[in-house]
Amino acid sequence: MRYPDPETITKGKETDEYRNYEDPQRDTVREFYRLNHTYQTYDFVKTKREDYLRFNKKKMPVWSAFDFLNQLVDDSDPDTDLDQFQHLLQTSEAIRADGHPDWMVLAGLMHDMGKVLCLFGEPQWAVVGDTFPVGCAYSDKIVYPEFFSENPDSKDARYNTQYGVYKPNCGLDNVLLSWGHDEYVYQMMKEYLPEPALYMLRYHSFYSQHRENGYDHLMSERDHKMFTWVKLFNPYDLYSKNPTPPDWNQLKGYYEALVKKYLPEELLF
Ligand SMILES: [Fe+2]
Ligand SMILES: [Fe+2]
Repeated sequence: MRYPDPETITKGKETDEYRNYEDPQRDTVREFYRLNHTYQTYDFVKTKREDYLRFNKKKMPVWSAFDFLNQLVDDSDPDTDLDQFQHLLQTSEAIRADGHPDWMVLAGLMHDMGKVLCLFGEPQWAVVGDTFPVGCAYSDKIVYPEFFSENPDSKDARYNTQYGVYKPNCGLDNVLLSWGHDEYVYQMMKEYLPEPALYMLRYHSFYSQHRENGYDHLMSERDHKMFTWVKLFNPYDLYSKNPTPPDWNQLKGYYEALVKKYLPEELLF
């Protein structure tokens, strides 16, 4: 069974539903965060960055990359879950329907492309789920904070103060977040999209900041300003599921032109 994406499971539900102990998905999510919080160490993040940010794994035309990503399909629940491309298209279409700039539409279309990490053999806990800074004390605003007691960094004095290896308000660009699809797609897109779109890609899973403001002390003024865009983006990611899926044949022309306007022929992975 495919792991249920915490983006939709933990965030899309009302508190009562989320606390339903009868819900088998709840245990799956708990187990996911147990693994994620145990193994996402400062060193782990550095190692993954060194490997994946060389972008020497694969070269694909943009539209082939969507086909590749779509191999990640939920076989366990075909009735309620969208495939990856449908989720991306519904996100981008909802953004477009609200009249936002075309680069935000494109950010919607691309925001989960980094999930191809799963297809390169990465476990789910190293690809999806909420992200959080490593190298400093964990905020109690992070989901399931109790699982950090299993993380070796929690016993390492260098990483245990409020600022850890960072300086006050040093800016998030100087902070390492847990490794996953957000940072990967940001790095993939950073030459091509304007700054607000890049913030949306890079921080869309950073709930302990964009929802809870748990890391104001690391944020620069620029970050605060740009997080207005991250917050604007979030509901489109969470709530854009539409019972009538968009008709791709009608939309194809628009999206082909949009991709051509901003992106190169081929993307490096
Ligand atoms: Fe995502
Ligand atoms: Fe998403």
